[in-house]
Amino acid sequence: PAPALIDAFGRRITYVRISVTDRCDLRCRYCMAEEMTFLPKSAIMTLEEIAAISDAFIDRGVRRIRLTGGEPLVRRGVPDLARMIGARLGHGLDELTLTTNGTRLADHAGALRDAGMRRINVSLDSLDPERFRHITRVGDLPRVLAGITAASAAGIAIKINMVALKGLNEDEIEPMLRWCADNGHDLTLIETMPLGAIDEDRVDRFLPLDGVKAALAERYTIRPLIERTGGPARYFHVEELGVKLGLITPLSENFCATCNRVRLTVSGELFLCLGSETKVDLRAAWREGGRPGLDAALERALAIKPLAHDFHIAARGAAPAVGRHMSVTGG
Ligand code: GTP
Ligand code: 5AD
Ligand code: SF4
Repeated sequence: PAPALIDAFGRRITYVRISVTDRCDLRCRYCMAEEMTFLPKSAIMTLEEIAAISDAFIDRGVRRIRLTGGEPLVRRGVPDLARMIGARLGHGLDELTLTTNGTRLADHAGALRDAGMRRINVSLDSLDPERFRHITRVGDLPRVLAGITAASAAGIAIKINMVALKGLNEDEIEPMLRWCADNGHDLTLIETMPLGAIDEDRVDRFLPLDGVKAALAERYTIRPLIERTGGPARYFHVEELGVKLGLITPLSENFCATCNRVRLTVSGELFLCLGSETKVDLRAAWREGGRPGLDAALERALAIKPLAHDFHIAARGAAPAVGRHMSVTGG
């Protein structure tokens, strides 16, 4: 068998996040500027190229693949890509998942389930239509809720991702937790990360999750769970509500030491860390050198994967740690 992917710090790469488009139909304030420029068509990989590179990763020991964006479902053919990659489920691949904003989920839920998806993450930062519109600048809440309902009905488990934003949605954390409990979804809270230039000051919006957890613990019994998904969240069970709560705390408590993942952009760049510019051009390696070229590029990549990100929000103020937005690598 092809050798496993192990970096210079002995960390084994078993999880790849693939951004299938840098485009998005929303403009979340903490993610994007109001005016964004996106890649031209000539710069993006075909779905067949993405599937071929995925195959190579699976051969090298990757067990989980997550499709992200931008918004993955704004690209035509993504359910077909899911089917291509999904063919490896049970043949090297343990799990194929998706992170989506939910706007087009109602149209595609059935196809995603048929492709083998059993669990997806939907970004949802507010349950109030006007506030949802404010945060996303253009979003329509009922449409996203309809997408979530359709995915549940298709037999896909839903985890809600909520970026915790001071002064914007912090008063909705508990209502969101209750809503998730009532609807059978898990909830993960995320600290806002300094990626790419936006129109607001991130320091003003940063809400450390240790404080959020302490506040919840005054009202509920919060039991830590040992289980991990392979993702970065630490999970808890909120006993009185019967709901699973995940906390993603890259700033207040980083989890880089156990990092198991890399991320592929739609232009074929393999970023070795969300919070670093280190990267290798996999598309060029694949186009010029086929599978051997790709394998050689992966060796170069493993050698430069950094130990940790460089997010220090308070010290940095509004200045981002890296120039690219979350939408380029999908988190
Ligand atoms: P599961 O635990 O499998 O459900 O997935 P996940 O939480 O890894 O995936 P999801 O796409 O929902 O990501 C949630 C958030 O975690 C996003 O905001 C990502 O940016 C963030 N995230 C994922 N991996 C990393 C990482 O390696 N470092 C940092 N700092 N953040 C990450
Ligand atoms: N910091 C933290 N999370 C972010 N997301 C987008 N931009 C940021 C940011 N700067 C979230 C989205 C989505 C996930 C993939 O990343 O809300 O849930
Ligand atoms: Fe789009 Fe997700 Fe960024 Fe919102 S957070 S603008 S939904 S990529």
